[in-house]
Amino acid sequence: PLATTGDLVARAAAARTAVAAVNVITLEHVEAVLSGAESAAAPVILQVSENAVGFHQGRLAPLARAAVAAAERAAVPAALHLDHVTSDTLLRQAPDAGFSSVMYDASRLPYTENLDATRAAADWAHAQGLWIEAELGEVGGKDGQPPLAAHAPGARTDPAEARAFVADSGVDALAVAVGSAHAMTARTAALDHDLLKRLSAALDVPLVLHGSSGVPDAELAAAVAGGIAKVNVGTALNIALTGAVRRYLGGHPEAVDPRGYLAEGRDAMSRTVAELIGVLGGAVTS
Ligand code: G3H
Ligand code: ZN
Repeated sequence: PLATTGDLVARAAAARTAVAAVNVITLEHVEAVLSGAESAAAPVILQVSENAVGFHQGRLAPLARAAVAAAERAAVPAALHLDHVTSDTLLRQAPDAGFSSVMYDASRLPYTENLDATRAAADWAHAQGLWIEAELGEVGGKDGQPPLAAHAPGARTDPAEARAFVADSGVDALAVAVGSAHAMTARTAALDHDLLKRLSAALDVPLVLHGSSGVPDAELAAAVAGGIAKVNVGTALNIALTGAVRRYLGGHPEAVDPRGYLAEGRDAMSRTVAELIGVLGGAVTS
């Protein structure tokens, strides 16, 4: 059934687990994420990024409608989240498109501008009944930027600043920069667990890990134990999907029907989603 992000994250935080928030670009992604969550018997968040909307010629509704319909008939609770929103126009489409939450990303702006933009977004979101996440510090690697940016100490989230940012903006959750970076294809990120512990102690909202594809399983489990309640992942699942498609096409040079390779890709992604949920300890459906 369709759930809300706020509810799923609150339940995960209370159980000291994390809910997987998986980026979906196509209908096959949606199907893979839901079937993976079903086989792990765990709730899941389907997240659509501003970039994914760009891929669909700027239109949110077609993918969102498909995701809502699929989530409604899923055997596990599934919520829709609009991810890395920088456009106010897109932000304002979220409620009508079936999203219960947004991540408003003004993290590239200097502190005061980030705070002002985030506070305005949070005021608007709350008036609509939306749950809102924001980012402080910057998890690098967005839009093809070099991921090394996240490993620079200056890009990390400062606990005292984060505490003021959450209090002054009113956001419901915070994405923290603790050593992960977006779009990593090798699982070599080393998280700063001491910083995560200090952030967790300083903040009374759930913490979100972005760029989780590059984080090894043991580090992910430690991050969840350290206070991460929502784990955003995209690239790792596309590695699984695309690898399976590539293998299928390599073995079937005569293939023309996309269902052959898309089914292989979808199955591989589904299995990877289930494995990830196992690492996060997310199998809590009640
Ligand atoms: O918001 C989305 C995530 O941070 C995904 O990052 O593709 O590096 O796993 P990833
Ligand atoms: Zn992200």
